[in-house]
Amino acid sequence: MTDFSNKYCLHTRTCGELRKENVGENVVLTGWVARQRDLGGLVFVDLRDRKGKTQCVFDPDVVDARVFADAERMRGEWVVKVAGTVRERESANPDMPTGEIEVMVHDVEVLNTSVTPPFAIEDGIETAEDLRMKWRYLDLRRPEMLANLKLRHTVAQAIRKALNERDFMEVETPILGKSTPEGARDFVVPSRITPGKFYALPQSPQLMKQMLMISGVERYYQIAKCFRDEDLRADRQPEFTQVDIEMSFIEEDDILTMMEDVLKEVFDEIGVEHPFPLQRMQYSEAMERFGCDRPDVRFGMELVNLTELVKGCGFKVFASAAENGNVVKAINAKGAGDWSRGEIDKLANVAAANGAKGLAWMAFKSDGTEKSPIKKFFDDETFAAIKQAVDAQPGDLVLFVADTADVANASLSALRLHMADALNIPREGHALLWVVNFPMFRYDEEEGRYVAEHHPFTQVRREDLDKIETDPLACGSYSYDLVMDGYEAGGGTLRIHKSEEQKRILRRVGLTEEQIEEQFGFLTTALDHGAPPHGGIALGLDRLIMLLAGKDSIRDVIAFPKTTSGSDLMQESPTPVTERQLKEVGMRLL
Ligand code: AMO
Ligand code: AMP
Repeated sequence: MTDFSNKYCLHTRTCGELRKENVGENVVLTGWVARQRDLGGLVFVDLRDRKGKTQCVFDPDVVDARVFADAERMRGEWVVKVAGTVRERESANPDMPTGEIEVMVHDVEVLNTSVTPPFAIEDGIETAEDLRMKWRYLDLRRPEMLANLKLRHTVAQAIRKALNERDFMEVETPILGKSTPEGARDFVVPSRITPGKFYALPQSPQLMKQMLMISGVERYYQIAKCFRDEDLRADRQPEFTQVDIEMSFIEEDDILTMMEDVLKEVFDEIGVEHPFPLQRMQYSEAMERFGCDRPDVRFGMELVNLTELVKGCGFKVFASAAENGNVVKAINAKGAGDWSRGEIDKLANVAAANGAKGLAWMAFKSDGTEKSPIKKFFDDETFAAIKQAVDAQPGDLVLFVADTADVANASLSALRLHMADALNIPREGHALLWVVNFPMFRYDEEEGRYVAEHHPFTQVRREDLDKIETDPLACGSYSYDLVMDGYEAGGGTLRIHKSEEQKRILRRVGLTEEQIEEQFGFLTTALDHGAPPHGGIALGLDRLIMLLAGKDSIRDVIAFPKTTSGSDLMQESPTPVTERQLKEVGMRLL
């Protein structure tokens, strides 16, 4: 491929490319002053651009007084153009790719000066994140941040290439749209032309991509901005990017296989090794073994179900849980057996934060003794059976929760991750898997109704169709999440393509006939006009890049992210609007 990095610009070489082979060449470099040192008559300037850094040397015996004076007054982040000759360095710097050479400057042009930046423009700084976000353009000048953007670009291009080769068509869908319930709150935009009416920004292009299938596009993708007005966390932003995909005339296996093939090509492109095809784990198995639907399978410490074993045992909390249809589950944190009582007691907070009413424990100390507030309740035989079931050895700490399956799973899953951190259990590399066959519905206590676990456009499994009205919680769905390193990196479903079936689900999640017509009439009508069987998936591009870049916040891989309180500290948004703007859209502030 032609290298265009030195075409259409002021420089003849980038700051990252000169090597010993280039010694003797006359070059022109442009960039920012990373460092300027005045050393015994010579001035050394490290010049930095997107590609790297090069040492430039100004010798007063060689250059004009004007050039040397410029070198002497240069400061960090000044923008300069230098012309010079590449020569071998007397003492090479093995830590720098260009460390074997330097450029003996003949001429310099100061293109711009700079005030002193608020933090050092280099990797590994400890600067507070809000300062970095306020000065984001300087933060992005740091090589590690630029590398994240570069990785994002490379991955996005590899995805596009892989999908294009597979006959997908990239289609843009509207940003000003109609609310699509995906479980989050909409961002709304008032309409000036029809006062009192609002557009909603898309939470995802879900219905639009289904419309494209009805249009006959057959294979669609879009790298789409999505907007959700929800509480923010390290892995959630109010606007984020999905690689949104939809296909017609497919079965579930076709989508998973296509996605694996695409991911494999992307990983090859960036040198990440991972075995394919990916494991497909039933949702029920993920919940049973890991207590969560996005398990980090890079380490063990799986949940052990002791419900049967403790039936009728002497510890009332366990026995009654087992008899009342609740569960008793445990994890074995190997290496925490010698923790102090105080340290162990603090773990109860992690359990309580997930709804657990208590946390029982047994510590097996490395000296062979045992410590446990509940051991006295068990006969020798049951105690031995528990020990065996959890594989308790000296040095182990076993943590138990007796509760509903939901609470026991949530609290032990949180404890499993907490203990992995506390014990420094290595979680290197990546582990991807599919979690498939999610329940179609869950009961939302707050709303007092059944809601769709993924979204209401998802197909209920054939064998469960007769239970939609009678036993909704027992209905499985054709659904799949891509789980990577304990994160939900993507998710999708097979869609309903018959209008009657679609109305049935919308009724089940509590919509009246009028609401169905008003909110989804365009969908059900379209389904009546020859909708092909279809399904798809959306990858969370920000999360995927965050994991590939080894970061723990998606803010690090988004050029201009928002804080957890939803503001952009650089632009200082959101802001009030003028009275006039409000009036134009027929609104008044309360
Ligand atoms: P879902 O809601 O699961 O599915 O979103 C797909 C993926 O998008 C990512 N994601 C987010 N990333 C950053 N910030 C957020 N606030 C955020 N919310 C979601 C996750 C998630 O797996 N229309 C369906 C997809 C489909 O069925 O085809 C959808 O939007 O990585
Ligand atoms: P108690 O007899 O109620 O004092 O409980 C004895 C131990 O069992 C304490 O360590 C409690 O934290 C723990 N415990 C209480 N309820 C539960 C529960 N639902 N699951 C697990 N442990 C519990």
